[in-house]
Formats: sequence, structure tokens, C-alpha cells
Amino acid sequence: MDFPKLKSKLVLAPMADVSTLPFRLLCEKYGAALTYTEQLSSLGIIRENPRTLKLVERSNEEKLVGLQLFGRNSKILLKAALKLEKNFDIIDLNFGCPSKKIVTQGYGSALLREKDRVKKIIETLSNGLEKPVTVKMRSGFKKVEALGLVKIMEEAGASAITIHGRTREQGYSGKADWDIIQQVKEKVNIPVIGNGDVVSGEKAKELLEHTKCDYVMIARAAMNNPMIFDEINYYLKTGKKKILVKEDKVKLFLEYFELCEKYDFANVSNLRCTALNFCKGFNGSKELRVRLMKAKDKEKIIEEVERFGRI
Ligand SMILES: Cc1cc2nc3c(=O)[nH]c(=O)nc-3n(C[C@H](O)[C@H](O)[C@H](O)COP(=O)(O)O)c2cc1C
Repeated sequence: MDFPKLKSKLVLAPMADVSTLPFRLLCEKYGAALTYTEQLSSLGIIRENPRTLKLVERSNEEKLVGLQLFGRNSKILLKAALKLEKNFDIIDLNFGCPSKKIVTQGYGSALLREKDRVKKIIETLSNGLEKPVTVKMRSGFKKVEALGLVKIMEEAGASAITIHGRTREQGYSGKADWDIIQQVKEKVNIPVIGNGDVVSGEKAKELLEHTKCDYVMIARAAMNNPMIFDEINYYLKTGKKKILVKEDKVKLFLEYFELCEKYDFANVSNLRCTALNFCKGFNGSKELRVRLMKAKDKEKIIEEVERFGRI
């Protein structure tokens, strides 16, 4: 199955504890053409783990959403994907997660050292599913391995590849290597989604021009500001910047809150964390942090964010 043609150049990244249904809807509203769920355990889906089942909810309001799975057993991954493929537009495989907990179980970026297994997983899923299968990877585990892998991934049936230009070993240090994204783009004929360090319209343009990649995926900048998609789309169209003010962020948080209420994600820890992410870097954000830490219910969180907007 082919990767769909996207309406803009921008994709929201899978982010654990962030890319929930309300967050995805907000990013889509502000210009993300495709969003992904956070990485979800294939075993958790099969065993019907309640937390996992909450995170695989998808709304009809969402236009294009990919489900990201992690696992290392092709049969289990297929079984999990078959359970949910009708709810999603794309099934994505995580070959990039660097976390110790994931890697020690042989998941995520650990699979970058297992070419045959990667091939088998992609073949099994792309043959067994009706939806396009995509891959998200880092450039390698300890060293750069992507160039020896991406053609295999394409031939096994991957319909697009997202590449974050850092190895597992690099974590988040230094700068993402955009040259490797460019080299991957030259190697394959399927769409390539470049990822790593895009925080503005200028950076998105630079990444697109430098690598010739088809799309740009954004994680950390979107976590703090879902309006980044609108800013970047506007910049790519006009070459002009949009400057956000504090009121925009408060409005954004209130929109997020409404979506959380609608879809039953409005718990204190999620709201507190998102309020802190959205309000970072503005006058009064340090005081807001202290106040939010003391807030015991969602009403108090809303009150504090509104107060922050007024000072
Ligand atoms: C809080 C957080 C959670 C993440 N969770 C996932 C995940 O579930 N699956 C995944 O493939 N990548 C995950 N990532 C990695 C991002 O998708 C992305 O590849 C990385 O942050 C680089 O992009 P950026 O420079 O735009 O942040 C996560 C990143 C962050 C910051």
C-alpha cells in the first residue's frame, strides 16, 4: 500500500505521554497533515492492557493518523496491528526508541542491528495488512547503519521511512545529522520524512532543501507549541514569520483542555504537564510552575493558567 499524499509538508511525531488523541487533534487543527500515536506495545494491545487501550482510541474528527507499534516478534506485531488497523490510516514500526528499558528487551533502536529480523517484521506486516506500513528509525545504534538498512526496508514493503538523524548512542546530544537524511533519500524511492531539530519555519525549509526529503516530522517543538505547524506552513508559503504572544498559548491550552474533557484525558498530571510545556519561556512561567505543582484539581489548573495570561 502506498503512503498517502499529504496536504502539507508537516507531520507530528510519535511522543510517549504527549501524542494523545486531544494533542493530535490540536496539532492537526494547526496544520499537521499526519499525526502518529505514541509507541504502543504490541503485547499490551494483544493482552488488552487498559492503559494501552485508552491510548489506541481514535476519533472520527481526526483526518490522518498512524498507529506506532513496538515489538520484535513479527507474528505478535501483526496480530496487534490486525486488531487495530481498521481504526488507523497507517501502521508505523518503531526502530528508533533509545530508552534503556526498551532496548534491553530488544525493541526500538536495538533492532537496527538485526537486519534479518527488521526485514521479516516489515514483510509480515506489509503482506498481512491492508494499510500502509511505515518505519521510524534512528540513523543507527552505535554507528550509522541506516544506509545498509533502508533499501531492505523498502524492498520488504515499507511505504515510507522517517529518519531521525542521530544514533541511539547520541541520545539527543549535538546536532541531528541531516546529511544522513539526504543519503537515505537518495537511496530509496519511497517518501522520506526527515526528523531532528526542526524548531522553526527557517529550519524546516533548510531541512527540506538540504536533504530533499518529502516531509518533515516535528516532536519537541510541537510538544511546547502545537501552533508550530501553522507557523511553519505560513513560513514555507510566504517566507514570513508569525510571532506568538502569551495569549495565544493560553488560548491553546484552553482548547487542549476542552479536547481532553471531550475525550476523557483531563487528568491533573496530564493538564499540569501540558500547561507547563505550553507556557514555557514567557513572563511568569516560573511562578506558574510553582502554583501548578500545588494545584490539586483541574479547575485550579485552569484558574492558574488564566491568571498567568493576565499578568
Ligand atoms: C517526550 C518524547 C517522547 C517520545 N516518544 C517517542 C515515541 O513514542 N516513539 C518514537 O518513535 N519516538 C519518540 N520520540 C522521539 C521523537 O519522535 C523524535 O524522533 C525526536 O524527538 C527528534 O525530533 P525533534 O528534534 O523534533 O524533537 C519521543 C521524543 C520525545 C521528546
